[in-house]
Amino acid sequence: MTAKILDGKAIALELREKIAQKISDEVAKGKARPGLAVILVGADPASQVYVRNKKIACEKAGFNDVSLELPAETTQEELLAKIDELNAREDVHGIIVQLPVPKHINSEAIIERIDPKKDVDGFHPYNMGRLATRTLNLAPCTPHGVMTMLAKTGIQLRGLNAVVVGASNIVGVPMALELLNARATVTVCHSATQDLAQKVSEADLVVVGVGIPEMVKGAWIKPGAIVIDVGINRLDDGRLVGDVEYDIAKDKASWITPVPGGVGPMTIATLLENTVQAAYD
Ligand code: GUN
Repeated sequence: MTAKILDGKAIALELREKIAQKISDEVAKGKARPGLAVILVGADPASQVYVRNKKIACEKAGFNDVSLELPAETTQEELLAKIDELNAREDVHGIIVQLPVPKHINSEAIIERIDPKKDVDGFHPYNMGRLATRTLNLAPCTPHGVMTMLAKTGIQLRGLNAVVVGASNIVGVPMALELLNARATVTVCHSATQDLAQKVSEADLVVVGVGIPEMVKGAWIKPGAIVIDVGINRLDDGRLVGDVEYDIAKDKASWITPVPGGVGPMTIATLLENTVQAAYD
């Protein structure tokens, strides 16, 4: 079997067009454009690329870009003060701090300082709690984007055995909660999991977000499974690969996300969607 491609790029584009239309309708009614502040502290090259992509998507959709680039030496107190300033601004509807932040800054303290109503990353404990209690408010962008992509493709999740590889706050944990809310039976695997290959081989749906190139082997994939690869890793030879061994996995899966062009565009589209929700709902 050769898998069908889950075309995140196309689905994200459609979503972004809808968002741009919604903004022009709201502006025509006299409402302000959504304002999004993407804060980058330091000059991590991968983060610079992600932030640039978010800003381009923002501009194309008609957002007001109020992003900030702060030096790596910025103190935690200075960053908290910036967040307070943005929390108080009426023209700012969404605030995100690109992770990772430099080591001298406590990311939990930063996330908890963002007004939960402006937490368009969905990382604040309030928003994570809303996801965990099935009273969704602003949901973390990558897992929610994966759910949108699956729904738009017509994939039913109820009753599937889902295996999530990786238990981060950004991907694995909220992904597991989303899948549980969709009535899948969910197993979360992490670095202490025994016999990962066995666990993955039982999955009807596998979502991998670990940041290790091709860590999940194609041979582990159950024939006909749905494979969602959240990873994006640059190899020394310049190639971009996911966390799944794509070339072998694609011959076993029924559906698979490409890297790039799968989950990444959905994360950005969901960030825009969350910001529109924060601005107008
Ligand atoms: N770093 C990696 N993914 C993300 C994300 O979705 N949001 C933020 N703020 N930082 C990230």
